[in-house]
Amino acid sequence: MSRILITSAIPYINGIKHLGNLVGSQLPADLFARYNRARGHEVMFICATDEHGTPAELAAAKAGKPVAEFCAEMHAVQAQIADGFRLSFDHFGRSSSPQNHKLTQHFAGRLKAAGLIEEVSEKQVYSNADGRFLPDRYIEGICPNCGYDKARGDQCENCTKQLDPTDLIEPRSAISGSTDLEVRETKHLYLRQSALKDELDKWIDTKTDWPVLTTSIAKKWLHDGDGLQDRGITRDLDWGVPVKDGENDWPGMEGKVFYVWFDAPIEYIAATKEWADKTGGDWERWWRTDKGADDVRYIQFMGKDNVPFHTLSFPATIKGSGEPWKLVDYIKSFNYLNYDGGQFSTSQGRGIFQDQALEILPADYWRWWLLSHAPESNDSEFTWENFQAGVNKDLADVLGNFVSRITKFCRSKFGEAVPEAGDYGSAELALIAELETRIQAYVAQMEAMEVRKAATELRAIWVAGNEYLQSAAPWSTFKEDEAKAAAQVRLGLNLVRLYAVLSAPFIPDASAKMLSAMNTLDTDWPDDVSAALSALSGGHEFAVPDVLFAKISDEDRESWQDRFAGTRD
Ligand code: 2FM
Ligand code: ZN
Repeated sequence: MSRILITSAIPYINGIKHLGNLVGSQLPADLFARYNRARGHEVMFICATDEHGTPAELAAAKAGKPVAEFCAEMHAVQAQIADGFRLSFDHFGRSSSPQNHKLTQHFAGRLKAAGLIEEVSEKQVYSNADGRFLPDRYIEGICPNCGYDKARGDQCENCTKQLDPTDLIEPRSAISGSTDLEVRETKHLYLRQSALKDELDKWIDTKTDWPVLTTSIAKKWLHDGDGLQDRGITRDLDWGVPVKDGENDWPGMEGKVFYVWFDAPIEYIAATKEWADKTGGDWERWWRTDKGADDVRYIQFMGKDNVPFHTLSFPATIKGSGEPWKLVDYIKSFNYLNYDGGQFSTSQGRGIFQDQALEILPADYWRWWLLSHAPESNDSEFTWENFQAGVNKDLADVLGNFVSRITKFCRSKFGEAVPEAGDYGSAELALIAELETRIQAYVAQMEAMEVRKAATELRAIWVAGNEYLQSAAPWSTFKEDEAKAAAQVRLGLNLVRLYAVLSAPFIPDASAKMLSAMNTLDTDWPDDVSAALSALSGGHEFAVPDVLFAKISDEDRESWQDRFAGTRD
């Protein structure tokens, strides 16, 4: 048994997220967490809301609420939606927690002591109409890199380039739209990432097993142009972690807060402390290598736009502190999921939002489709036709149909108990051999976090059962050889339990229904397939479950297509 620390990128608090956000970090992280728990490992799965910075302030202003109140409400909403999708976090924290304030200030103090923070007097955009500085998302304009006209002051959503507000072409205030802007002097702290460049470069070079998507983005930031740039880590904002040097004031930094991207990844650690403070658990054995965390394998999940911060900025914070904090061991990153020919966009209300998705269909339908189409090697696209086909074919026709047929057939001929008679013959042994190979392949893909390939293997495992049932045809066998039919049915019922165990990381609700119908608590991983397919022995009672997956009709598909064609307010 090993210990596995899993973090998902923490979603901004500014609103309900769309399905692209879900498949880009939280959902695959959940898949991996569930899989590892099922394999008997000790897992700590952490996520949180990212509550600071301009996204939070702008959204609170739009909602007409004080920002602290807005964040508390939205955290509850996001937690409920996460629960709706069955995201099995050990803790869903808040980056505005006292734990994160303290830890962020601690890291800043350590970095200062190590000489890695520079105080810079710099020019920032000031809006005369709004009477304030316009950091990050408070300013919008044209991206100097790709020409996208809604680029924000911190990053271009279109080409992922990190920006400074003064880089934007034709800048305007995101608060008032005013272009009456001027540049003023203000003092800020910079993290001297450039001083750590060689160390980071060497560290990334050791990560030969990381996805190319991850390392190529890191390398680009290390080597393109003038190489890794120092990064401003403070802002002229009210809401955030006040700038402090550990527990002491930081002269000249009064009234300023840390930049959201400085405190957000630190929340991974702070959220684990939140968990510990709540449960009495030990957070340091997950995070401090001097307290046992060198045995931990730490894996981060995120969308590609988050990669520079996790491969460079956050490691710079950790390494620069000079303290024995756990560094990430593997970064699994994702491309974008597009929506019907365009991008999902929170700011533009385009696509399907997580609350809407749960209103129309249960979590498993979304989990299965999204994971089996995860944007790994390329961007992938959600279309309603494709979604309907995936759900109907894989879930309803293959898995659902299998479970329904075998349980109903047994009930009609043998009653609701596993039939006793007969032994497994050559067809059954052949299926067991096939499943041994296929389960090994499934395990290999899950271990490698190859989400789509794992889904493909799982589907093949379901198909193998269906094909077996089709060719064994116990309904025909029954007429000539009742004992043989009984053995076939016994195998089929055991397959239902086996499928429930193997499928649980993808479709936990259906899996729970299957186990409950099979009247068993035995969720042991099938290391020995033959033994696993004898787990339910003759006489064991079961029940025919309700329909596991309803098919999506053409009418439903068309009505959803219309409903989600426009944009959400
Ligand atoms: O892109 C986002 O949604 C960010 N809120 C992710 C932050 S991940 C981290 F560093 F905590
Ligand atoms: Zn751009």
